[in-house]
Amino acid sequence: MIFQLNEEQQAVKDAAREFAQKELKPGVIERDSNMTFPTEQIRKMGEMGFLGMMVDPKYGGGGMDSLSYVLAMEEISKVDNSCSVIMSVNNSLVCWGIETYGSEEQKQKYLPKLTSGEWIGSFCLSEPEAGSDATSQRTTAIDHGDHYILNGTKNWITNGGSSSLHLVVAQSDVEAGHRGINVFLVESDSEGVVIGAKEDKLGIRSSDTHTIMYNDVKVPKENRIGEDGFGFKFAMKVLSGGRIGIAAQALGIAGGAYELSVAYSKEREAFGKPISKHQAIAFKLADMATEIEAAKMLVYRSAWLKDEGLDYTSAAAMAKVYASEVAMRQTVEAVQVHGGYGFVKEYHVERLMRDAKITQIYEGTSEIQRMVISRNLLKGQLYVPTPASGLVEG
Ligand code: CAA
Repeated sequence: MIFQLNEEQQAVKDAAREFAQKELKPGVIERDSNMTFPTEQIRKMGEMGFLGMMVDPKYGGGGMDSLSYVLAMEEISKVDNSCSVIMSVNNSLVCWGIETYGSEEQKQKYLPKLTSGEWIGSFCLSEPEAGSDATSQRTTAIDHGDHYILNGTKNWITNGGSSSLHLVVAQSDVEAGHRGINVFLVESDSEGVVIGAKEDKLGIRSSDTHTIMYNDVKVPKENRIGEDGFGFKFAMKVLSGGRIGIAAQALGIAGGAYELSVAYSKEREAFGKPISKHQAIAFKLADMATEIEAAKMLVYRSAWLKDEGLDYTSAAAMAKVYASEVAMRQTVEAVQVHGGYGFVKEYHVERLMRDAKITQIYEGTSEIQRMVISRNLLKGQLYVPTPASGLVEG
């Protein structure tokens, strides 16, 4: 069985590929080296419609399905993973969260800005003491009638220094545990929002990752998303979709490393023939191709399940855990295929290797994904649902 892309999906994939090769590839090494935020590139991605792909056109989005979004993420991630993580957070965590669970006023106020790229958003869940253990929120949001007062510190926040809108997860009722958690839309220029230092990272270096402090920030009640106490479920649901985006990023990283390795190995000669003709390299390429196809099926299927309105929690976790491990393995192999050239920046594969690592960590580590999968299977969901429609015989 194979997936068959429709014309629109294929066109999105082609446009993203062309954009990544023409607009992102030149300058990607310098931006990474200097930790330069890709302001101009993100502006163009907004113009191209890559920042709010799944959002209803009435809020300025592209009205596309998740599979189209995955295809665009994959192509962009072959080249520039700082741009693709900015894109992923904005699309899957911020826009999707607001559109799916926000009020009509919240959608009208924020989505057009976020889909156009005028604003970008960030998702503020992690704290110094609450990473994988996300229910242990120390940030508080105390109810004062028509507003909440927010206090606390968030860290590892993607887009932390560049976003205009923060989705902040906070504890409103300690006694209620995770059922006392809320999520708020906080504008970054609100009084009391302090952006901490930018992290100097191993990979995705031109995306900006910050600690953010909230000191007595007044948040209007209408900026809470959903009913009182819905915040933790909101975070979990949004992260399930986010994991599809990160899985697509990992798939793209593996694909980028593979494409560069095939091209290099056909050009580079050793012992009188291209190294691709030596079995040591040819078998590496064969393994890369095979693993990429397997990862692709998991990633595309998780997007398709989401589009069909079926449960995709385990499928997204499986896609992320597998694709991120493939990305890590294959980028290491790609550096090996390139030999000494793989170890220098000019050939791009060392950057992809550094970028791959974070896909095993953010939006839930590989260990958290295995926790999600194993809990679901022990509850009785032995297999991910696989209805026949949407798949074609190949
Ligand atoms: N959908 C809906 N509800 C869910 C859910 C889901 N997928 N998963 C859990 N819940 C609900 C449970 O049903 C439960 O609710 P009830 O008690 O009302 O039934 C509640 O949430 C608590 O669930 P658990 O008891 O399973 O909670 P837990 O403490 O054992 O933790 C966890 C669950 C899955 C490990 C969760 O803490 C988790 O996902 N941790 C990882 C956090 C994470 O991914 N962080 C990434 C940071 S964001 C980021 O990286 C973005 C970026 O910038 C790139």
